[in-house]
Amino acid sequence: GGGCGACTVMVSRYNPREKTISHFSANACLLPVCQLHLAAVTTTEGIGSTETRIHPVQERIAKANGSQCGFCTPGMVMSLYALLRNQPQPSLEDIVEALGGNLCRCTGYRPIVDGCKTFCGVRMSVMRHLESLLVDNGVPELFHEGDLLPQDPTQELIFPPELMLMAESQRPLTQTFCGERITWVSPVTLRELVELKAKHPKAPLVLGNTGVGLEMKFKGILHPVIISPTRVPELYEVNKTPDGVWVGAACSLTSLKTLVEKLVRELHEDQVETFSALLQQLRSLGGQQIRNVASLGGNIASAAPNSDLNPVLAAGRCILSVISKVFNFTHTSQGSSHMSTMGSVEFVRAFRQAPRKANALATVTSGMRVRFAQGTDAVEDLAIFYGGVGPCTVGATKTCREVIGRRWNEETLNEAYRLLLDEISLPPSAPGGKVEFRRSLTLSFLFKFNLQMLQKLNEMPSWRWQVRPDCSDKRRLTFGTCRSQEVSQGQRGDDLVGRPVMHRSALSQATGEAVYCDDIAGSQGELFLALVTSTRAHAKLIKIDDGEALKLPGVVDAVTAKDIPGKKFRTFTGIDEELLAENEVTCVGQMVGAVVADTRQHAKQGAAAVKVVYEDLPDRVLTIEEAIEKKSFFKPQREIERGNVTEGFRKADQMLEGEIRIGGQEHFYMETQSMLVVPSGEEKELKVYLSCQHPTYAQESIAETLGIPSNRVSCHVKRMGGAFGGKVTKTSILASITALAAWKTGQAVRCVLERGDDMLITGARHPVLANYKVGFMNDGRIIAADIQYFTNAGNTGDESILVIEKILLHIDNAYSVPNLRGRATACKTNLPSNTAFRGFGVPQSMLVVESVINDVAMKLGCTAEEIREKNMYKGPSITHYKLQFDPENLLRCWDECLQKADYHSRRTTIAQFNQSNRFKKRGIAVIPIKYGIAFAECFLNQAAALVHIYKDGSVLVSHGGAEMGQGIHTKMQQVASRELRIPVSLIHISETSTNVVPNTCPSAASFGTDANGMAVKMACETLLQRLEPVIREDPKGTCWPNVVSLCRGPDTYMDWKKQEGQPYAYFTYGTCCSEVEVDCLTGDYQTLRTDIVMDIGRSINPSIDIGQIEGAFMQGLGLYTMEERKFSPSGMLYPRGPAQYKIPAVCDMPLKFNVYLLAGSSNLHAIYSSKGIGEPVLFLGSSVFFAIKDAVAAARKDVGLGGPFKLDSPACPEETCLACASWWELFLFTFMCCVLVKTYDGLLLCPGCTLPNTLCFCDNPRTTRTLPWHNS
Ligand SMILES: Cc1cc2nc3c(=O)[nH]c(=O)nc-3n(C[C@H](O)[C@H](O)[C@H](O)COP(=O)(O)OP(=O)(O)OC[C@H]3O[C@@H](n4cnc5c(N)ncnc54)[C@H](O)[C@@H]3O)c2cc1C
Ligand code: FES
Repeated sequence: GGGCGACTVMVSRYNPREKTISHFSANACLLPVCQLHLAAVTTTEGIGSTETRIHPVQERIAKANGSQCGFCTPGMVMSLYALLRNQPQPSLEDIVEALGGNLCRCTGYRPIVDGCKTFCGVRMSVMRHLESLLVDNGVPELFHEGDLLPQDPTQELIFPPELMLMAESQRPLTQTFCGERITWVSPVTLRELVELKAKHPKAPLVLGNTGVGLEMKFKGILHPVIISPTRVPELYEVNKTPDGVWVGAACSLTSLKTLVEKLVRELHEDQVETFSALLQQLRSLGGQQIRNVASLGGNIASAAPNSDLNPVLAAGRCILSVISKVFNFTHTSQGSSHMSTMGSVEFVRAFRQAPRKANALATVTSGMRVRFAQGTDAVEDLAIFYGGVGPCTVGATKTCREVIGRRWNEETLNEAYRLLLDEISLPPSAPGGKVEFRRSLTLSFLFKFNLQMLQKLNEMPSWRWQVRPDCSDKRRLTFGTCRSQEVSQGQRGDDLVGRPVMHRSALSQATGEAVYCDDIAGSQGELFLALVTSTRAHAKLIKIDDGEALKLPGVVDAVTAKDIPGKKFRTFTGIDEELLAENEVTCVGQMVGAVVADTRQHAKQGAAAVKVVYEDLPDRVLTIEEAIEKKSFFKPQREIERGNVTEGFRKADQMLEGEIRIGGQEHFYMETQSMLVVPSGEEKELKVYLSCQHPTYAQESIAETLGIPSNRVSCHVKRMGGAFGGKVTKTSILASITALAAWKTGQAVRCVLERGDDMLITGARHPVLANYKVGFMNDGRIIAADIQYFTNAGNTGDESILVIEKILLHIDNAYSVPNLRGRATACKTNLPSNTAFRGFGVPQSMLVVESVINDVAMKLGCTAEEIREKNMYKGPSITHYKLQFDPENLLRCWDECLQKADYHSRRTTIAQFNQSNRFKKRGIAVIPIKYGIAFAECFLNQAAALVHIYKDGSVLVSHGGAEMGQGIHTKMQQVASRELRIPVSLIHISETSTNVVPNTCPSAASFGTDANGMAVKMACETLLQRLEPVIREDPKGTCWPNVVSLCRGPDTYMDWKKQEGQPYAYFTYGTCCSEVEVDCLTGDYQTLRTDIVMDIGRSINPSIDIGQIEGAFMQGLGLYTMEERKFSPSGMLYPRGPAQYKIPAVCDMPLKFNVYLLAGSSNLHAIYSSKGIGEPVLFLGSSVFFAIKDAVAAARKDVGLGGPFKLDSPACPEETCLACASWWELFLFTFMCCVLVKTYDGLLLCPGCTLPNTLCFCDNPRTTRTLPWHNS
């Protein structure tokens, strides 16, 4: 629904009157075909191809390593392409704006932006080059700008002349398209439009379709008649008047933005107040693709509760011109809007706060206007409007009435805050939640408005605390550094190991040629499968009635558990999971059946028509707390201890106890779960094409489900559009259900989940609740810690036991705590079962550890970095599970990161900044990581490879790793190329398939390259040995054999009874330093700079590894600061798409992002001394979380609150803002009672006036008492 941009295309139109062609990017998923009459649509396939000529945009994104899994790449290419068609040399800001509506889950955006930046012109390219030379002289660039194709305007597609001719010659006539269910009418005159609207009052006027399209797609609303006024010229008219401008209702938001930008440039400063405020909102409203099609009239008429424009237009005294045959709202069409200029003493401001800085609907938005009597601070007029606090835009008329006529001063504003709280009330159950936050934002915005007006009036009133304008310098993305590694001296020039080789599929991905599962062409009679899922969290299944569904057009069959001929459940870590619920459902979203039909649409309609009768069961368990209370756990619970924790606590100088929560995380791979099962019609054979990290497991599961041997099922994985751990167990279950349908119908069956279903059904990262107790000495040494973890595993075991084990194995992170105890339990609840996610419990485990360190530092009044350094492993060390290791590279990463990031001097600068800014605070944090690589279960550390050398000298490598964007196939090509001493161009990798390399292990745990690389190496070595005599005689080689090689990885194990083992082959180390700036009034933050130093041994491919580092960091940033999974009280997941679930976008990139690979590191335990890197860095995203916490601590200090405080993850703006304990929150507290109970431990109250200390107006506010929250 327009939220991810993966389907971006360019739309071009010819204007016969002006003889101009316009180009703009748009989301194909929201473009009605009927509206594309006379338009040319260009996709990435149209602008270049590997077979003819690739386009520079495709090439640069690919060569800059901006394409990993590649699913987002065509959309990225087209967003940039459309920009370049309008601006051949864009600025960096233009690029960031153009990519604002495109999401990427793999790359972290830096490489994409880097590739795009090469279009910014000579100056910028030279700057970038110089900077990289200055920083790391001699280290190879990740890609060389000199190798790039130049921009060639002659390569661009021309606008189809036939369309031009048609536009010139055809007289515009009303068009009517009649579909099965919908009639689409497109009039060409205003008069006709008004007639049509009168005739069909219920028909929507569809312009951009960004509102109506979503309703129809996701809410199932059907409009039998749609009127599309896109060809009515009057609706596009823009007319300037002496006091403003009339803007036609059909003008797109992009053209509105261009118009107001021009007005702001041309008109006098005093006149552009409303335009500037509008511009501010338009910059962050939706993504570029949305703004290009969404219309001004549509935005106004949609009257969305959190519309960004309506509050500003209302405050700015905008006039709407409407036209109607009948005086009735539903019969009315909006013609245009008049936006006025303002007088010299009239000011308009806009405010907005959203879960993400751009392309996210606002939580609260506002427009405010004040007019002062000339030369005074007396308020002549005031308008305050809010979005996001009611069912539509809400005006604070009562508050305004009270303020008008009074002076704009402290007393008036204090009264205004009070009145506002009373007037803009939100009941605790208000739709959208976040009630406290939204109320606090209404005050924040007025407070911000007040500050800006005070500045305008240039009269600072004598407030008790000094109000100074905070620094609001406009910060921009700058050039970062990526330091790769040098290859060893003497390495052959054609040996590509250690060199930054482009992802082998990057060009096919950029040109749209790459084949994903759903791109596989359909076959005759192929059916589509849609799932029927439970709507109850815990209930008996009384009946599943598919009678009505089977009568629907196109529906062929339905399957339930009763149809399963073989095993009805999957068993993982000893726990059974039903494929399809048979007697009882245990979560909303659990699969109970499926419907197959001739098309997706029919299958969906069929699934919706299946009637499921439930009988609710008591004892629903949704939260970890409920599970603890009811002892609803999966077995076994795990525990590990070293030293004597009780004794340690006894000896400690000080003790602290605390609790922290870490929310779950949706995988949000760009390609949803997809599979195609094709029965071969002979001897029960099935060919299964799927997007899966563990094809062997899917094969086993399908065979068991159908009761046939594994040798009848072959699973094929070409590539995945992202996976991150979410395409192992859940994919295998979905594939088994799809295979069941194919088995029953005898037809090929395809299943591609829609985003909402994928999010509902397939689970996520485990949320964690942790309690800790820590004992430490006054000098900062931690001598004992006891941490108890509870994960919310959901309704089935899945991999939850392995996750809690990994949690416990990482409770030391980088620290040597002599007495350390960890306990972990997977709670069984009635939520969808959670599963593996990049890091597999480690990101949750270590966040707790670092929070403990942070709290100790706050208690001792020193920086967390001092405590980290003091407790870090040093010299020959041993972990709590008795594994010996050398932490030298851990310490090297730490020291190098502090130095590269210039940590110490920046800490001083930050302290100075915080002293001089009251409502903006900066924070910095440095976080180390020690991450164990390999599967603790030895049998998973193996891989096989089959290498064919054909007579023509070409080589086909097959191995057990599946490509999901991590570049494993590229690395395997590099390995084979080195071993066989041939160019990579001779080596091909087609797919991962169980009939070529059987019994593969999952591509997970950052171990894919280690294991499969060894297998490929061994196979090539064997071949080369055999070929040695032939090569000697005939160096060109004509007789080439094939070899299969099996690599057995390290003998890892973990004995949980003895609490010791060698679960890892080695550790990957790293350190990350991040600095943020937090707006304490809204909780918004910006990552100003991030520096990462990673020890990944000797990288096989630095550009791929740096891409993994940046991508994982951004995913971690999302986990700890943005991504929220919320459930309804009945256990239903709320966020079901990109509109509600926000993953980091390009606007969230650190403004400066430096990545350094540690030099001089090697690793005996993996191929070519490399190290696994896929997972570890995700945790380093927590440096942003801790930097936010650091900034919040500075804000709290200003209101007299010191010491440890609680901040749960994710630290979204809501949590951050409330934790800042800004004065108006205390104000809220005082007047509204207890609304902020969660924010901190206690409050200093003045006994005189009972106001918070910082607010009170008594003479002696120092006489205070602490009011603990539990008393309030
Ligand atoms: C991914 C995404 C992100 C978004 N982000 C934001 C955001 O950050 N802030 C924000 O404010 N909005 C946001 N929106 C909403 C978007 O701005 C509106 O949907 C859009 O402005 C509506 O314009 P449209 O032309 O697409 O309307 P349509 O979908 O074509 O129509 C919407 C409604 O307006 C009515 N209408 C349209 N034109 C007229 C007219 N001339 N006279 C009378 N009625 C009319 C139609 O009958 C219909 O009911 C977002 C939408 C999407 C899909
Ligand atoms: S490369 Fe962007 S989502 Fe995978």
